[in-house]
Amino acid sequence: MAKNQTLADRAPTPGEPAATTPKNTLTITDNRTGRAYEVPIEHGTIRATDLRQIRTTPDDFGLMSYDPAFMNTASCKSAVTFIDGDRGILQYRGYPIEELAEKSTFLETAYLVIHGELPTRVQFEDWKLQIAEHYILHENIKRFIGGFHHDAHPMGMLVSTVGALSTFYPDAKNIADPVVRRRQIHRLLGKMPTLAAFAYRHSRGLPYEYAPPGLSFAATFMAMLWQRSGARTAYAPDPVVERALDLLFILHADHEQNCSASAMRVVGSSHPDPYCAVAAATGALYGPLHGGANEEVLRMLREIGTKDRVPGYIERVKAGEMRLMGFGHRIYKNYDPRARIIKEAAHKVFAVTGTNPLLDIALELERIALQDEYFVGRKLYPNVDFYSGLIYEALGFPVEMFPVLFAIPRTAGWIAQWQEMLLDKEQKIARPRQVFVGSLQRAYVPVDQR
Ligand code: CMC
Repeated sequence: MAKNQTLADRAPTPGEPAATTPKNTLTITDNRTGRAYEVPIEHGTIRATDLRQIRTTPDDFGLMSYDPAFMNTASCKSAVTFIDGDRGILQYRGYPIEELAEKSTFLETAYLVIHGELPTRVQFEDWKLQIAEHYILHENIKRFIGGFHHDAHPMGMLVSTVGALSTFYPDAKNIADPVVRRRQIHRLLGKMPTLAAFAYRHSRGLPYEYAPPGLSFAATFMAMLWQRSGARTAYAPDPVVERALDLLFILHADHEQNCSASAMRVVGSSHPDPYCAVAAATGALYGPLHGGANEEVLRMLREIGTKDRVPGYIERVKAGEMRLMGFGHRIYKNYDPRARIIKEAAHKVFAVTGTNPLLDIALELERIALQDEYFVGRKLYPNVDFYSGLIYEALGFPVEMFPVLFAIPRTAGWIAQWQEMLLDKEQKIARPRQVFVGSLQRAYVPVDQR
Protein backbone atom coordinates (compact mmCIF):
# COMPACT_ATOMS: atom_id res chain seq x y z
CA MET A 1 0.00 0.00 0.00
CA ALA A 2 1.31 3.45 -0.89
CA LYS A 3 2.47 5.72 1.92
CA ASN A 4 -0.40 7.78 3.41
CA GLN A 5 -2.96 5.47 1.79
CA THR A 6 -5.67 4.29 4.17
CA LEU A 7 -7.47 0.95 4.09
CA ALA A 8 -10.53 2.72 2.69
CA ASP A 9 -8.55 4.27 -0.21
CA ARG A 10 -7.20 0.96 -1.44
CA ALA A 11 -9.23 -0.89 -4.12
CA PRO A 12 -9.94 -4.51 -3.05
CA THR A 13 -7.94 -7.16 -4.90
CA PRO A 14 -10.03 -9.88 -6.63
CA GLY A 15 -11.54 -12.28 -4.11
CA GLU A 16 -10.92 -9.91 -1.26
CA PRO A 17 -14.01 -8.50 0.57
CA ALA A 18 -14.59 -4.78 -0.09
CA ALA A 19 -13.09 -2.51 2.56
CA THR A 20 -15.63 -1.49 5.18
CA THR A 21 -15.80 1.98 6.68
CA PRO A 22 -12.60 2.39 8.71
CA LYS A 23 -13.10 2.10 12.43
CA ASN A 24 -12.40 5.21 14.48
CA THR A 25 -9.97 3.38 16.71
CA LEU A 26 -6.25 2.91 17.13
CA THR A 27 -4.67 -0.49 17.53
CA ILE A 28 -1.50 -0.51 19.58
CA THR A 29 0.76 -3.52 19.79
CA ASP A 30 2.97 -3.68 22.84
CA ASN A 31 6.14 -5.33 21.61
CA ARG A 32 7.16 -6.10 25.19
CA THR A 33 4.25 -8.52 25.58
CA GLY A 34 2.95 -9.01 22.04
CA ARG A 35 -0.52 -7.94 23.17
CA ALA A 36 -2.66 -5.66 21.02
CA TYR A 37 -5.01 -3.00 22.38
CA GLU A 38 -7.73 -1.10 20.57
CA VAL A 39 -8.44 2.39 21.83
CA PRO A 40 -11.15 4.77 20.57
CA ILE A 41 -10.28 7.92 18.63
CA GLU A 42 -12.50 10.93 19.31
CA HIS A 43 -11.95 14.37 17.73
CA GLY A 44 -8.61 13.14 16.41
CA THR A 45 -7.34 12.27 19.89
CA ILE A 46 -6.94 9.20 22.04
CA ARG A 47 -7.45 9.44 25.78
CA ALA A 48 -4.14 9.30 27.60
CA THR A 49 -5.85 7.28 30.35
CA ASP A 50 -6.66 4.57 27.77
CA LEU A 51 -2.92 3.87 27.68
CA ARG A 52 -2.99 2.78 31.31
CA GLN A 53 -4.44 -0.61 30.40
CA ILE A 54 -1.16 -1.36 28.59
CA ARG A 55 0.86 -3.23 31.21
CA THR A 56 3.61 -5.77 31.27
CA THR A 57 2.54 -7.31 34.60
CA PRO A 58 -0.67 -6.99 36.66
CA ASP A 59 1.06 -4.68 39.15
CA ASP A 60 2.61 -2.50 36.43
CA PHE A 61 1.31 1.10 36.75
CA GLY A 62 0.46 1.15 33.05
CA LEU A 63 1.74 3.18 30.12
CA MET A 64 1.75 6.99 30.30
CA SER A 65 2.46 9.55 27.59
CA TYR A 66 5.39 11.95 28.10
CA ASP A 67 4.79 15.43 26.72
CA PRO A 68 6.96 18.22 28.17
CA ALA A 69 5.47 21.66 27.46
CA PHE A 70 2.23 20.02 26.23
CA MET A 71 3.47 19.98 22.65
CA ASN A 72 0.84 17.44 21.58
CA THR A 73 -1.61 17.09 24.44
CA ALA A 74 -5.14 18.51 24.51
CA SER A 75 -5.99 19.24 28.13
CA CYS A 76 -9.61 20.17 27.52
CA LYS A 77 -12.45 20.40 25.05
CA SER A 78 -13.13 24.04 24.31
CA ALA A 79 -15.68 25.95 22.24
CA VAL A 80 -14.16 29.40 22.76
CA THR A 81 -11.40 30.01 20.22
CA PHE A 82 -10.46 28.15 17.06
CA ILE A 83 -6.98 28.45 15.59
CA ASP A 84 -5.66 26.77 12.47
CA GLY A 85 -2.00 27.59 12.81
CA ASP A 86 -1.01 26.24 9.40
CA ARG A 87 -3.57 28.36 7.56
CA GLY A 88 -3.30 31.43 9.80
CA ILE A 89 -6.96 31.28 10.94
CA LEU A 90 -8.22 32.68 14.24
CA GLN A 91 -11.90 32.69 15.22
CA TYR A 92 -13.67 33.57 18.48
CA ARG A 93 -16.82 31.44 18.86
CA GLY A 94 -16.83 30.91 15.09
CA TYR A 95 -16.41 34.57 14.10
CA PRO A 96 -13.25 35.34 12.08
CA ILE A 97 -10.90 37.74 13.85
CA GLU A 98 -10.75 39.92 10.74
CA GLU A 99 -14.51 40.48 10.86
CA LEU A 100 -14.58 41.20 14.59
CA ALA A 101 -11.63 43.57 14.19
CA GLU A 102 -13.50 45.48 11.52
CA LYS A 103 -17.04 45.49 12.92
CA SER A 104 -17.05 44.79 16.66
CA THR A 105 -15.92 46.58 19.79
CA PHE A 106 -13.88 45.11 22.62
CA LEU A 107 -16.78 44.93 25.06
CA GLU A 108 -19.01 43.24 22.50
CA THR A 109 -16.21 40.78 21.68
CA ALA A 110 -15.64 40.14 25.39
CA TYR A 111 -19.35 39.32 25.74
CA LEU A 112 -19.10 36.96 22.77
CA VAL A 113 -15.99 35.23 24.08
CA ILE A 114 -17.48 34.75 27.56
CA HIS A 115 -21.11 33.96 26.67
CA GLY A 116 -20.67 32.20 23.32
CA GLU A 117 -23.03 34.47 21.38
CA LEU A 118 -23.06 38.10 20.30
CA PRO A 119 -25.30 40.14 22.61
CA THR A 120 -28.67 41.56 21.62
CA ARG A 121 -28.89 45.34 21.93
CA VAL A 122 -30.53 45.02 25.37
CA GLN A 123 -27.97 42.48 26.61
CA PHE A 124 -25.15 44.66 25.35
CA GLU A 125 -26.43 47.82 27.07
CA ASP A 126 -26.79 45.91 30.32
CA TRP A 127 -23.32 44.37 29.92
CA LYS A 128 -21.70 47.80 29.42
CA LEU A 129 -23.58 49.20 32.38
CA GLN A 130 -22.61 46.33 34.69
CA ILE A 131 -18.94 46.63 33.78
CA ALA A 132 -18.95 50.42 34.12
CA GLU A 133 -20.27 49.97 37.70
CA HIS A 134 -16.99 48.30 38.56
CA TYR A 135 -14.41 50.72 37.20
CA ILE A 136 -14.22 52.17 40.69
CA LEU A 137 -11.78 50.69 43.22
CA HIS A 138 -12.13 50.34 46.97
CA GLU A 139 -10.11 53.18 48.57
CA ASN A 140 -7.93 50.62 50.35
CA ILE A 141 -6.81 49.22 47.01
CA LYS A 142 -5.60 52.68 46.04
CA ARG A 143 -3.61 52.78 49.27
CA PHE A 144 -2.29 49.32 48.49
CA ILE A 145 -1.00 50.54 45.10
CA GLY A 146 0.55 53.51 46.88
CA GLY A 147 2.80 51.09 48.78
CA PHE A 148 4.72 50.01 45.69
CA HIS A 149 8.16 51.38 44.98
CA HIS A 150 8.15 54.25 42.44
CA ASP A 151 9.90 52.10 39.83
CA ALA A 152 7.83 48.96 40.37
CA HIS A 153 6.97 47.29 37.05
CA PRO A 154 3.26 47.86 36.33
CA MET A 155 2.85 44.17 35.51
CA GLY A 156 4.14 43.26 38.97
CA MET A 157 1.69 45.77 40.46
CA LEU A 158 -1.15 44.32 38.39
CA VAL A 159 -0.39 40.72 39.44
CA SER A 160 -0.41 41.77 43.10
CA THR A 161 -3.42 44.06 43.07
CA VAL A 162 -5.68 41.75 41.10
CA GLY A 163 -4.73 38.98 43.53
CA ALA A 164 -5.47 41.34 46.42
CA LEU A 165 -9.05 41.78 45.14
CA SER A 166 -9.59 38.27 46.52
CA THR A 167 -9.44 39.73 50.04
CA PHE A 168 -11.96 42.46 49.23
CA TYR A 169 -14.64 40.15 47.79
CA PRO A 170 -14.79 37.03 49.97
CA ASP A 171 -18.10 36.00 48.36
CA ALA A 172 -16.13 35.39 45.14
CA LYS A 173 -15.03 31.99 46.39
CA ASN A 174 -18.60 30.70 45.79
CA ILE A 175 -17.63 29.79 42.28
CA ALA A 176 -20.43 27.23 41.88
CA ASP A 177 -23.03 30.01 42.12
CA PRO A 178 -23.67 31.48 38.65
CA VAL A 179 -24.89 34.79 40.09
CA VAL A 180 -21.72 35.20 42.15
CA ARG A 181 -19.60 34.23 39.14
CA ARG A 182 -21.34 36.80 36.96
CA ARG A 183 -20.65 39.53 39.54
CA GLN A 184 -16.93 38.70 39.60
CA ILE A 185 -16.82 38.68 35.80
CA HIS A 186 -18.19 42.23 35.70
CA ARG A 187 -15.81 43.24 38.48
CA LEU A 188 -12.76 41.78 36.83
CA LEU A 189 -13.45 43.32 33.44
CA GLY A 190 -14.22 46.68 35.07
CA LYS A 191 -11.34 46.77 37.51
CA MET A 192 -8.47 45.55 35.31
CA PRO A 193 -8.23 48.85 33.35
CA THR A 194 -8.41 50.87 36.56
CA LEU A 195 -5.72 48.79 38.29
CA ALA A 196 -3.54 49.12 35.18
CA ALA A 197 -4.12 52.88 34.86
CA PHE A 198 -3.47 53.53 38.55
CA ALA A 199 -0.29 51.43 38.42
CA TYR A 200 0.85 53.72 35.61
CA ARG A 201 -0.09 56.90 37.50
CA HIS A 202 1.66 55.59 40.59
CA SER A 203 4.88 55.09 38.64
CA ARG A 204 4.57 58.66 37.41
CA GLY A 205 3.77 60.01 40.86
CA LEU A 206 0.40 61.29 39.64
CA PRO A 207 -2.85 61.36 41.62
CA TYR A 208 -5.37 58.70 40.61
CA GLU A 209 -8.16 59.87 38.30
CA TYR A 210 -11.40 58.15 37.36
CA ALA A 211 -12.94 58.68 33.95
CA PRO A 212 -16.20 60.59 33.43
CA PRO A 213 -19.15 58.25 32.76
CA GLY A 214 -20.33 57.37 29.27
CA LEU A 215 -16.97 56.75 27.60
CA SER A 216 -16.11 53.57 25.72
CA PHE A 217 -13.99 50.92 27.46
CA ALA A 218 -10.82 52.06 25.67
CA ALA A 219 -11.56 55.77 26.24
CA THR A 220 -12.30 55.14 29.92
CA PHE A 221 -8.90 53.51 30.29
CA MET A 222 -7.15 56.31 28.41
CA ALA A 223 -8.91 58.96 30.49
CA MET A 224 -7.80 57.26 33.72
CA LEU A 225 -4.25 57.28 32.36
CA TRP A 226 -4.05 60.73 30.88
CA GLN A 227 -6.70 62.96 32.40
CA ARG A 228 -4.79 65.95 33.75
CA SER A 229 -5.53 66.36 37.43
CA GLY A 230 -7.27 69.67 38.06
CA ALA A 231 -7.73 70.42 34.35
CA ARG A 232 -10.86 72.39 33.41
CA THR A 233 -11.59 70.20 30.42
CA ALA A 234 -12.20 66.46 30.47
CA TYR A 235 -9.76 64.25 28.58
CA ALA A 236 -11.07 63.34 25.13
CA PRO A 237 -9.10 60.84 23.05
CA ASP A 238 -8.66 61.19 19.32
CA PRO A 239 -11.28 58.81 17.80
CA VAL A 240 -8.63 57.12 15.61
CA VAL A 241 -6.45 56.48 18.63
CA GLU A 242 -9.43 55.25 20.69
CA ARG A 243 -10.46 52.88 17.90
CA ALA A 244 -6.88 51.61 17.53
CA LEU A 245 -6.65 50.71 21.21
CA ASP A 246 -10.07 49.05 21.08
CA LEU A 247 -8.93 47.07 18.03
CA LEU A 248 -5.80 45.92 19.85
CA PHE A 249 -8.01 44.85 22.76
CA ILE A 250 -10.20 42.80 20.36
CA LEU A 251 -7.14 41.08 18.89
CA HIS A 252 -5.85 40.14 22.34
CA ALA A 253 -9.14 38.93 23.86
CA ASP A 254 -8.37 35.21 23.71
CA HIS A 255 -5.99 32.74 22.14
CA GLU A 256 -7.11 29.29 23.33
CA GLN A 257 -4.81 27.16 25.49
CA ASN A 258 -1.72 29.38 25.67
CA CYS A 259 0.53 29.61 28.72
CA SER A 260 -1.60 32.12 30.68
CA ALA A 261 -4.95 30.51 29.78
CA SER A 262 -3.51 27.19 30.92
CA ALA A 263 -2.32 28.85 34.15
CA MET A 264 -5.86 30.21 34.65
CA ARG A 265 -7.36 26.76 34.14
CA VAL A 266 -4.78 24.91 36.25
CA VAL A 267 -5.03 27.31 39.19
CA GLY A 268 -8.81 27.62 38.77
CA SER A 269 -9.12 23.83 38.87
CA SER A 270 -8.34 23.81 42.60
CA HIS A 271 -11.37 26.16 42.99
CA PRO A 272 -9.92 29.38 44.44
CA ASP A 273 -11.78 32.61 43.67
CA PRO A 274 -11.17 33.99 40.17
CA TYR A 275 -8.94 36.86 41.40
CA CYS A 276 -6.30 34.36 42.54
CA ALA A 277 -6.56 32.55 39.20
CA VAL A 278 -6.32 35.80 37.20
CA ALA A 279 -3.26 36.80 39.27
CA ALA A 280 -1.64 33.50 38.24
CA ALA A 281 -2.59 34.00 34.60
CA THR A 282 -1.26 37.57 34.67
CA GLY A 283 2.01 36.26 36.11
CA ALA A 284 2.25 33.74 33.26
CA LEU A 285 1.57 36.48 30.73
CA TYR A 286 4.36 38.65 32.16
CA GLY A 287 7.14 36.39 30.82
CA PRO A 288 9.11 37.52 27.76
CA LEU A 289 8.19 34.37 25.83
CA HIS A 290 4.48 35.21 26.19
CA GLY A 291 2.90 38.65 26.78
CA GLY A 292 6.18 40.24 27.78
CA ALA A 293 7.43 39.82 24.20
CA ASN A 294 5.87 43.10 23.01
CA GLU A 295 8.01 44.99 25.52
CA GLU A 296 11.09 43.07 24.38
CA VAL A 297 10.40 43.85 20.71
CA LEU A 298 10.68 47.57 21.38
CA ARG A 299 13.86 47.13 23.38
CA MET A 300 15.24 45.03 20.53
CA LEU A 301 14.33 47.61 17.86
CA ARG A 302 15.97 50.34 19.94
CA GLU A 303 19.08 48.22 20.39
CA ILE A 304 19.30 47.68 16.63
CA GLY A 305 18.92 51.45 16.20
CA THR A 306 19.25 51.81 12.43
CA LYS A 307 18.16 49.86 9.36
CA ASP A 308 21.69 49.10 8.21
CA ARG A 309 22.35 47.17 11.43
CA VAL A 310 19.48 44.74 10.79
CA PRO A 311 21.50 42.12 8.81
CA GLY A 312 24.13 41.98 11.56
CA TYR A 313 21.43 41.49 14.20
CA ILE A 314 19.81 38.69 12.19
CA GLU A 315 23.18 36.93 12.01
CA ARG A 316 23.48 37.09 15.78
CA VAL A 317 19.99 35.60 16.14
CA LYS A 318 20.92 32.80 13.75
CA ALA A 319 24.10 32.17 15.72
CA GLY A 320 21.87 31.55 18.75
CA GLU A 321 22.91 34.67 20.71
CA MET A 322 19.27 35.71 21.19
CA ARG A 323 15.80 35.20 19.77
CA LEU A 324 14.13 37.56 17.37
CA MET A 325 11.41 38.86 19.66
CA GLY A 326 7.95 39.06 18.13
CA PHE A 327 8.78 36.18 15.81
CA GLY A 328 7.67 32.57 15.99
CA HIS A 329 4.71 30.90 17.60
CA ARG A 330 3.92 27.50 19.03
CA ILE A 331 0.74 27.24 16.98
CA TYR A 332 1.07 29.58 13.98
CA LYS A 333 3.35 28.15 11.35
CA ASN A 334 2.07 30.77 8.94
CA TYR A 335 1.64 34.52 9.36
CA ASP A 336 -0.16 35.35 12.63
CA PRO A 337 -3.47 36.90 11.43
CA ARG A 338 -3.38 39.35 14.34
CA ALA A 339 0.01 40.67 13.19
CA ARG A 340 -1.41 41.32 9.71
CA ILE A 341 -4.32 43.36 11.13
CA ILE A 342 -2.03 45.32 13.44
CA LYS A 343 0.40 46.08 10.65
CA GLU A 344 -2.45 47.56 8.61
CA ALA A 345 -3.83 49.51 11.57
CA ALA A 346 -0.40 50.97 12.30
CA HIS A 347 -0.56 53.21 9.24
CA LYS A 348 -3.89 54.74 10.33
CA VAL A 349 -2.50 55.42 13.79
CA PHE A 350 0.73 56.91 12.49
CA ALA A 351 -1.30 59.25 10.24
CA VAL A 352 -2.59 60.84 13.46
CA THR A 353 0.30 60.41 15.87
CA GLY A 354 3.20 60.76 13.43
CA THR A 355 5.22 57.73 12.38
CA ASN A 356 7.31 55.68 14.74
CA PRO A 357 10.89 55.69 13.41
CA LEU A 358 11.29 52.13 14.69
CA LEU A 359 8.72 51.00 12.10
CA ASP A 360 11.33 51.13 9.33
CA ILE A 361 13.62 48.88 11.35
CA ALA A 362 10.76 46.46 12.03
CA LEU A 363 9.79 46.33 8.34
CA GLU A 364 13.41 45.72 7.36
CA LEU A 365 13.73 42.96 9.99
CA GLU A 366 10.61 41.28 8.66
CA ARG A 367 11.75 41.65 5.04
CA ILE A 368 15.15 40.11 5.63
CA ALA A 369 13.95 37.40 8.03
CA LEU A 370 11.24 36.22 5.65
CA GLN A 371 13.84 35.67 2.92
CA ASP A 372 16.24 33.84 5.19
CA GLU A 373 16.32 30.04 5.23
CA TYR A 374 16.75 30.00 9.04
CA PHE A 375 13.35 31.66 9.58
CA VAL A 376 11.59 30.22 6.52
CA GLY A 377 12.69 26.66 7.31
CA ARG A 378 11.50 26.94 10.92
CA LYS A 379 8.27 28.68 9.85
CA LEU A 380 9.02 31.73 11.99
CA TYR A 381 6.76 34.65 11.09
CA PRO A 382 5.91 37.89 12.91
CA ASN A 383 3.47 37.28 15.74
CA VAL A 384 1.00 39.64 17.42
CA ASP A 385 3.74 41.25 19.48
CA PHE A 386 5.92 42.29 16.57
CA TYR A 387 3.93 45.36 15.53
CA SER A 388 1.67 45.97 18.55
CA GLY A 389 4.45 47.66 20.53
CA LEU A 390 5.00 50.19 17.75
CA ILE A 391 1.36 51.27 17.98
CA TYR A 392 1.39 51.27 21.77
CA GLU A 393 4.42 53.53 21.69
CA ALA A 394 2.80 55.84 19.14
CA LEU A 395 -0.26 56.02 21.42
CA GLY A 396 2.02 57.27 24.19
CA PHE A 397 2.51 54.19 26.35
CA PRO A 398 5.90 53.51 27.94
CA VAL A 399 7.25 50.01 27.13
CA GLU A 400 6.67 48.62 30.60
CA MET A 401 2.92 49.17 30.08
CA PHE A 402 2.84 46.93 26.99
CA PRO A 403 2.24 43.59 28.76
CA VAL A 404 -0.38 45.33 30.90
CA LEU A 405 -2.17 46.35 27.70
CA PHE A 406 -2.21 42.66 26.79
CA ALA A 407 -3.53 41.58 30.21
CA ILE A 408 -6.55 43.94 30.22
CA PRO A 409 -8.33 42.40 27.21
CA ARG A 410 -6.97 38.88 27.81
CA THR A 411 -8.91 38.89 31.08
CA ALA A 412 -12.01 38.23 28.92
CA GLY A 413 -10.38 35.10 27.50
CA TRP A 414 -9.15 33.92 30.89
CA ILE A 415 -12.67 34.27 32.30
CA ALA A 416 -14.17 32.36 29.36
CA GLN A 417 -11.61 29.56 29.76
CA TRP A 418 -12.09 29.46 33.54
CA GLN A 419 -15.87 29.30 33.36
CA GLU A 420 -15.77 26.65 30.63
CA MET A 421 -13.42 24.59 32.80
CA LEU A 422 -15.69 24.92 35.85
CA LEU A 423 -18.76 23.81 33.90
CA ASP A 424 -16.99 20.90 32.20
CA LYS A 425 -17.97 17.71 34.01
CA GLU A 426 -14.87 15.93 32.75
CA GLN A 427 -12.50 18.39 34.43
CA LYS A 428 -10.94 17.78 37.81
CA ILE A 429 -8.09 19.38 39.72
CA ALA A 430 -5.17 19.61 37.26
CA ARG A 431 -2.44 17.26 38.31
CA PRO A 432 0.08 16.10 35.70
CA ARG A 433 2.12 12.95 36.10
CA GLN A 434 5.91 12.85 36.09
CA VAL A 435 8.60 10.50 34.89
CA PHE A 436 10.75 10.11 37.98
CA VAL A 437 14.45 9.97 37.07
CA GLY A 438 15.99 10.72 40.48
CA SER A 439 17.74 8.46 42.99
CA LEU A 440 15.91 5.41 44.19
CA GLN A 441 15.59 4.88 47.93
CA ARG A 442 18.85 5.36 49.83
CA ALA A 443 19.84 5.65 53.48
CA TYR A 444 20.23 9.04 55.14
CA VAL A 445 23.89 9.95 55.80
CA PRO A 446 24.61 12.06 58.91
CA VAL A 447 26.29 15.39 58.09
CA ASP A 448 29.71 14.52 59.59
CA GLN A 449 29.90 11.40 57.41
CA ARG A 450 29.26 13.17 54.04
N1 CMC B 1 14.03 33.77 17.01
C1 CMC B 1 14.95 32.87 16.57
N2 CMC B 1 14.76 31.55 16.55
C2 CMC B 1 13.59 31.09 17.00
C3 CMC B 1 12.58 31.95 17.47
C4 CMC B 1 12.84 33.34 17.45
N3 CMC B 1 11.92 34.21 17.88
N4 CMC B 1 11.51 31.23 17.85
C5 CMC B 1 11.84 29.95 17.64
N5 CMC B 1 13.09 29.87 17.12
C6 CMC B 1 13.79 28.65 16.69
C7 CMC B 1 14.30 27.87 17.88
O1 CMC B 1 15.59 28.25 18.25
C8 CMC B 1 14.22 26.46 17.34
O2 CMC B 1 15.32 26.27 16.50
P1 CMC B 1 16.08 24.83 16.45
O3 CMC B 1 15.06 23.89 15.91
O4 CMC B 1 17.24 25.05 15.58
O5 CMC B 1 16.45 24.52 17.88
C9 CMC B 1 12.96 26.47 16.46
O6 CMC B 1 12.84 27.83 16.03
C10 CMC B 1 11.70 26.04 17.18
O7 CMC B 1 11.57 26.83 18.36
P2 CMC B 1 10.88 26.37 19.70
O8 CMC B 1 11.51 27.10 20.83
O9 CMC B 1 10.88 24.87 19.75
O10 CMC B 1 9.40 26.84 19.46
P3 CMC B 1 8.28 26.98 20.57
O11 CMC B 1 7.01 26.63 19.92
O12 CMC B 1 8.64 26.23 21.80
O13 CMC B 1 8.34 28.54 20.95
C11 CMC B 1 7.89 30.83 21.07
C12 CMC B 1 7.39 29.45 20.58
C13 CMC B 1 6.82 31.87 20.78
C14 CMC B 1 8.12 30.77 22.59
C15 CMC B 1 9.20 31.17 20.34
O14 CMC B 1 8.97 31.25 18.96
C16 CMC B 1 9.82 32.46 20.87
O15 CMC B 1 10.56 32.43 21.84
N6 CMC B 1 9.54 33.64 20.20
C17 CMC B 1 10.04 34.89 20.68
C18 CMC B 1 9.15 35.39 21.81
C19 CMC B 1 7.82 35.89 21.31
O16 CMC B 1 7.73 36.64 20.34
N7 CMC B 1 6.75 35.49 22.04
C20 CMC B 1 5.39 35.94 21.74
C21 CMC B 1 4.53 34.84 21.26
S1 CMC B 1 3.01 35.47 20.54
C22 CMC B 1 2.15 36.18 21.84
C23 CMC B 1 1.62 35.20 22.78
O17 CMC B 1 0.65 34.50 22.45
O18 CMC B 1 2.16 35.12 23.88
